[in-house]
Amino acid sequence: MRFDDKKIVITGATGGIGQALVELFAGEGGQVLFSDRSEEDCSDLSAVLKRKGLETRYLAGDLRQKTYCEALISEAAERLGGIDILINNAGIIPRGNILETNDDMWFSALDVNLTAVFFLCRAAIPHMKRAGGGAIVNTSSTWGIYPGPDHVAYCTSKAAVAALTKNLGRDHAPDGIRVNAVCPNEVNTPMLRSGFIRRGIDPATAVSDLGKTVPLGHIAEPEEIADVIAFLASHDARYVCGATVEVTGAKPVYG
Ligand SMILES: NC(=O)c1ccc[n+]([C@@H]2O[C@H](COP(=O)([O-])OP(=O)(O)OC[C@H]3O[C@@H](n4cnc5c(N)ncnc54)[C@H](O)[C@@H]3O)[C@@H](O)[C@H]2O)c1
Repeated sequence: MRFDDKKIVITGATGGIGQALVELFAGEGGQVLFSDRSEEDCSDLSAVLKRKGLETRYLAGDLRQKTYCEALISEAAERLGGIDILINNAGIIPRGNILETNDDMWFSALDVNLTAVFFLCRAAIPHMKRAGGGAIVNTSSTWGIYPGPDHVAYCTSKAAVAALTKNLGRDHAPDGIRVNAVCPNEVNTPMLRSGFIRRGIDPATAVSDLGKTVPLGHIAEPEEIADVIAFLASHDARYVCGATVEVTGAKPVYG
């Protein structure tokens, strides 16, 4: 199995892509410690996976807190015996152009989407260096590369994640640590569906309609993004470093 005995930290684990990630990595032999905000949701996910025969650990908390980010890494290092793979998947999407974006929306986007990634990478890299290498996969977005309309805080934070990924990929390649990012377009998760619900649109109909705008015929399912993240974290991607991989079904970003 690709992740046999690998020690893996995954954030945003109870969300759409996160659940697919935890199941995939744990299912392929990884020792997973996962993170999300709600203790109850983490406990439920752990129980669901246990029923499928997959043992996982979790530490619930708020990634806007530096102390939690650092505790997550030290807990993982202690409970798993090191860290080989860090998957920075958690994210939030405050919606609005600059005039609609208040200070809280701006700082929340930067805190969760960018600064937590900085704290987690900074804490994890020394463990990976000691182990002789590792892999980090961050989640940016196509909107981090080609900003979509009216999401200024989100697009800015995701662009910074892409830049951080290229920086770390370059700086830590000599340490055997590969840092890459996945940049999905639309994915069928609560994050996407909440935008439709907010506008009073039925999410099932909207997702189906949106699928018709994608050359491959559907928007991504969470597993289709998790598979790319797993590839980037795996030995198969051993020469991929500092890359931002766009996963779009060939759909360009429309502005
Ligand atoms: N869904 C899409 O269309 C899409 C497109 C491009 C990129 N992405 C990115 O993919 C990643 C996963 O998103 P998703 O679509 O699965 O969304 P999601 O909302 O289903 O999951 C995000 C998870 O992050 C967690 N999280 C948010 N703030 C947190 C905090 N302060 N502390 C701890 N956990 C926190 C949430 O609780 C949630 O479980 C995100 O980084 C998102 O920006 C999603």
